[in-house]
Amino acid sequence: MRLLTLGDPIDTVGHILTVFSELRKLKGVEAVLDRLLCEARWLAKADAGTIFMVKNDRLVFSLVHNDSLFSANEVNKNFYLNADMPIDDTSIAGYVAKRGEAVQIDDAYDIDPAYPFRFNTAFDVKTGYRTRSVLSLPIKNSREKIIAVIQIINSLDEERNPVPFSKESHAYVSLLAHHAGTAIENAVITSELVLRMMKMAELRDPSETGAHVQRVGAYSAEIYHKLALNRGVCTEELKRTKDLIRVASMLHDVGKVGVSDLILKKPAKLTDEEYEVMKMHTIYGGQLFANAASELDALAGEIALNHHMHFGGGGYPGKITDFENPKMPGPPMRGDEIPLPARITALADVFDALTARRVYKPAWPDEKALDLITSESGKQFDPEVVDAFLAVIDVITAIREKFIEPGVAAKAADKPETAP
Ligand code: C2E
Ligand code: SIN
Ligand code: SIN
Ligand code: FE
Ligand code: FE
Repeated sequence: MRLLTLGDPIDTVGHILTVFSELRKLKGVEAVLDRLLCEARWLAKADAGTIFMVKNDRLVFSLVHNDSLFSANEVNKNFYLNADMPIDDTSIAGYVAKRGEAVQIDDAYDIDPAYPFRFNTAFDVKTGYRTRSVLSLPIKNSREKIIAVIQIINSLDEERNPVPFSKESHAYVSLLAHHAGTAIENAVITSELVLRMMKMAELRDPSETGAHVQRVGAYSAEIYHKLALNRGVCTEELKRTKDLIRVASMLHDVGKVGVSDLILKKPAKLTDEEYEVMKMHTIYGGQLFANAASELDALAGEIALNHHMHFGGGGYPGKITDFENPKMPGPPMRGDEIPLPARITALADVFDALTARRVYKPAWPDEKALDLITSESGKQFDPEVVDAFLAVIDVITAIREKFIEPGVAAKAADKPETAP
């Protein structure tokens, strides 16, 4: 992403302040991190970079960019790398997170022996990449607690040769990192609020974690990303909508708050009568957002209301316009009449429901789930959505491996510092 054309006279500090105010408007953590890393790399002309978030006393790989190895605008499974490492002196980012001070290295293969860490070469060995200059900075929240580390790699000169980071770029990226803490923290709070709402809505099972809510949000975001690339949607619009869809899609079943536990938790098939009650969760969800105060609310309402509609006709609740006296089923609605984000979430939701265990059913093997989805293309699901989904199936798999229910999660082994 390039927001300014290089060569324009640039007020860099002014630019950073603009970025900061825009960062605050982005709702999703992923979008905030992506924007931040793009801007930091742009300011310092860095070829690559990683953002680590502090979670449970470890550093989690939260975003990886590497222009030489993959485009940041593609749908890429590297964005969902499931790896973490300890906060200690054995790695550059670990040291930065532990001490809260920046580290600048001119050559990763020739680090001042006064530093306790070494550069982990595993990633370079695996990919043939040559890491040279490294700039690693802590990101603190409003209470001065370290919440993340931003690390950028290989500042490039005009000929795209890696050179040490300049004093100016160090200063600019520090300024950005200094402001970024609040933006990240706000996004984390929004997303935790969403997860808590969903946990309330599901109330199925004490081990319910919101992992499946995160999966449905991430699947929907990536399916949209692929579909938007296919349609030629411009990058700015794509990223903005992708972020909104990620959050709104997480809320698709929020209307289940209105359905009794007896039905939600029933460890068996629902009776016809119970299923009719269950179907009301779409209308309850629509009602929650009926007086949408923001674009996100409007999108969340659209998705909650329509995520069980079938592309070829059928599904529920039909066309609902009057939330005061909703009549189910409403008049039929099909194809493009169903909002695109709802058509996307419909597939993401069913894929996740099929491949996960539910109180009423065991998990299906992937192959069986994919067969159902393929055979429902044009019937239950929009064929354009199915095609986009199948095209990014490796990303979908990476998402599933990243967002697993605690207890199922095996501790990820230590991974190299800059790895995808
Ligand atoms: P959910 O568990 O999130 O499932 C979402 C959707 O995934 C379902 O929407 C359905 O389209 C698809 N799905 C899930 N399991 C299967 C399956 O075994 N075969 C097929 N072909 N599709 C499947 P649906 O049916 O409208 O259900 C909406 C929600 O109602 C479900 O959300 C779940 O919370 C509840 N529900 C549905 N059937 C039962 C049931 O038999 N027992 C219980 N306890 N709850 C059910
Ligand atoms: C990205 O992953 O490319 C950033 C956009 C987003 O995650 O919402
Ligand atoms: C859209 O791109 O959001 C509208 C067109 C469609 O529903 O396919
Ligand atoms: Fe639902
Ligand atoms: Fe669901």
